[in-house]
Amino acid sequence: MKGIILAGGTGTRLYPITQGISKQLMPIYDKPMIYYPLSTLIQAGISDILVITTPEDQGAFQRLLGDGSQFGIRLTYAVQQRPEGLAQAFIIGADFIGDSSVALALGDNIFHGSQFSASLSQCRDPQGGIVFAYEVSDPSRYGVVAFDESGQALSIVEKPQHPQSNFAVVGLYFYDNSVIDIAHTITPSTRGELEITSVNEAYLRQGKLQVQKLARGDVWLDTGTFDSMSEASSYVEVLQKRTGIIIGSPEAAAYQSGFIDAEQLQILAARLDKSGYGKLLRNIL
Ligand code: DAU
Repeated sequence: MKGIILAGGTGTRLYPITQGISKQLMPIYDKPMIYYPLSTLIQAGISDILVITTPEDQGAFQRLLGDGSQFGIRLTYAVQQRPEGLAQAFIIGADFIGDSSVALALGDNIFHGSQFSASLSQCRDPQGGIVFAYEVSDPSRYGVVAFDESGQALSIVEKPQHPQSNFAVVGLYFYDNSVIDIAHTITPSTRGELEITSVNEAYLRQGKLQVQKLARGDVWLDTGTFDSMSEASSYVEVLQKRTGIIIGSPEAAAYQSGFIDAEQLQILAARLDKSGYGKLLRNIL
């Protein structure tokens, strides 16, 4: 299975900060935002990952992440000329995906939780699509999924004014190879974007969409506003200081997925000693 991280967009909701820097390179406490979705894909056992950025920010992502060999994975890069929607990732990434299945992670979504981590490995190579739903207080900001009494998904609507439920669809999607064809057939929404919700609706219509509710103990944070970014930073800070366990580290995820060994992790930790990040990596060993 291949992975894509979508790390483009204009970041206008975070202006003026994102006028000079890509949103997904900004810090969430002690690491760049993109580390979090990258470690999610690595946790899912995915080692071949395409990073899609704006044309102007690509160099900065390459400087940060390189070819991925330090994490025992392969990273390649592609550009999205304009933010024309999340589903465009499968058109831009069609050659990269080839005949594989693919997971898409949004560059600004953060996940944490033991049940969530455990369920990731079961999402590999799905027949159809697998998405996750998370109960939130403000569903209108998201794709919203409604369920019938037996827990089957009935509908998915993007940013509805009158949400049918409180379950938001989170920014992590697993699809079989037909997602490339589906992305080519959907049309732009009224806001001019190829919506990921249209892809999910297509799978739902075919009876091939599995919607898994995230457990209450699992945490999903998005970082779309000043407040949510600052809250995500506080969450990571408090938890890491309290437990000594690092959150959202691609090094840690790579070690746990068996992509690097203890010796390689030691070398990575030594390079990061001065910032304290290295100490957290050593705690894993
Ligand atoms: O966070 C989950 C939500 O993400 C889902 O519930 C929604 O169904 C989905 O549409 C999406 O909604 P957002 O309004 O949060 O998407 P946003 O436009 O903020 O884009 C998400 C990330 O993807 C962000 O880091 C910017 C990047 N992006 C966005 C677009 C539209 C791109 O790289 N290219 C794009 O064309």
